[in-house]
Amino acid sequence: MSRRTALAAVMALSAGLALAGCSSDGEPSSPELKVSGAFMPQPVNDMAAGFLTVHNSGGAADKLTSVTSAISDVVTIHESKNQTMQKAESFDVPADGELDLERGGSHIMFMELKQKPQQGQKVAVELHFEKSGPIKVELPVKEPTYNPEKN
Ligand code: CU
Repeated sequence: MSRRTALAAVMALSAGLALAGCSSDGEPSSPELKVSGAFMPQPVNDMAAGFLTVHNSGGAADKLTSVTSAISDVVTIHESKNQTMQKAESFDVPADGELDLERGGSHIMFMELKQKPQQGQKVAVELHFEKSGPIKVELPVKEPTYNPEKN
């Protein structure tokens, strides 16, 4: 048996094992969500944006469908296209992947702010998903130009 054939055999075997592992418990795999890197740049008018990353370590995809917060009754999710922002119905959170809301891209949009959060404060939001239960997140308010480096 050549080295290449042996490797292929091992890979076929482990793929078979993984499949067996998934189907043996009889439950469909579900999304496993975790949020990191959340922040809100200090708003300069009555609108604010929120950024964060939703990690999904589960074997099933999910969708971010809406966001709610006490600071605004008008919270939407936006994607940026051709220098303009557009409301999105939902954002995919892929299985074993992540949804990145970052500056210049997709974001949470807070309009008609009831109060203007200041740097150093935290803004509580609740993320709603198609499958997973809601997740509460606190967005630390940063300086207006804040843009973290991604590792
Ligand atoms: Cu926007």
